[in-house]
Amino acid sequence: MMRAISVDCQTVSPTDFSLSLRDVTPASFARQQVQLQLLDLTGIHPFISGNKWFKLKYNLAAYEAAGKCCPLLSFGGAWSNHIHALAYAGYQANIPTIGVIRGERPPELSAMLQDAESWGMQLEFVSRADYREKDSEAFRVALRERLGEFEYLPEGGSNVLAVKGCMEILSGLDGNEAPDFLCCACGTGATLAGLIAAAPPETQVLGVPALKGADFLYDDIRGLLKQAGYADSGRWRLILSAHEGGYGKISPAWRIVLSVFVSAAGCSWSLCIQVSCCWRWKTCWRRVNSLPAAGW
Ligand SMILES: Cc1ncc(COP(=O)(O)O)c(C=O)c1O
Repeated sequence: MMRAISVDCQTVSPTDFSLSLRDVTPASFARQQVQLQLLDLTGIHPFISGNKWFKLKYNLAAYEAAGKCCPLLSFGGAWSNHIHALAYAGYQANIPTIGVIRGERPPELSAMLQDAESWGMQLEFVSRADYREKDSEAFRVALRERLGEFEYLPEGGSNVLAVKGCMEILSGLDGNEAPDFLCCACGTGATLAGLIAAAPPETQVLGVPALKGADFLYDDIRGLLKQAGYADSGRWRLILSAHEGGYGKISPAWRIVLSVFVSAAGCSWSLCIQVSCCWRWKTCWRRVNSLPAAGW
């Protein structure tokens, strides 16, 4: 039997947590001899959610070890889980934080940004055009002129320390047989890079980008692995055709399929993104098996 694991990255706790591996094999998978398990990161913390803790933990440790006191500044949209998690982590650890938010300040903040502000994060709204320049040196210089000194954390917290932290997600597999496939959603690709670096040699890693046209992630992920000093095993692929037209889009028909699965498997709707990934993966798995040179 083929065994696949989907890594859910919704909610992670910074202290004293365990990651649970659950069988969620739907009948249609079982008929094709595919077992589906979910590595569920949801039971750990309500705010520093999913992969967010793994991405933040070494960044926070490095900040503290360097004895910094300037704000930790990062980037995101109005509904960014990363900004939400960073704001809470900063609040907990007494680290000042700045969130540079894409777009004009709306008359009413999103629930995520309301939380972030209530936890003491300073919100700085920038136009979408400026936001696109967020990784440029010139933009950083302009931000420093405006906001003073800060410690820079890229969008999604995705840097080499995040990759190092995400390698630890696979401690959730300890004591289990290595899966044939590991499947995970991708935004910036840092989580996938950590999984690639830590995956057992017999496991192939599949990333499912949430964005349309995300083939740039091949270079980004290879770049992150290289910068972090981890070998690129080459045993990974992106499934580029799984988006439904763009980030966060989901067709009514697909929503129904997932609802049925979610209630049968007894997992929360918040896990759907991962289940959705696996389903897409399953439809591709014969091609996955033959490991084509480029993404689908
Ligand atoms: C549920 C979920 N899975 C996976 C990811 C992967 O994120 P990234 O590729 O940016 O590390 C994210 C975003 O952080 C997410 O929210």
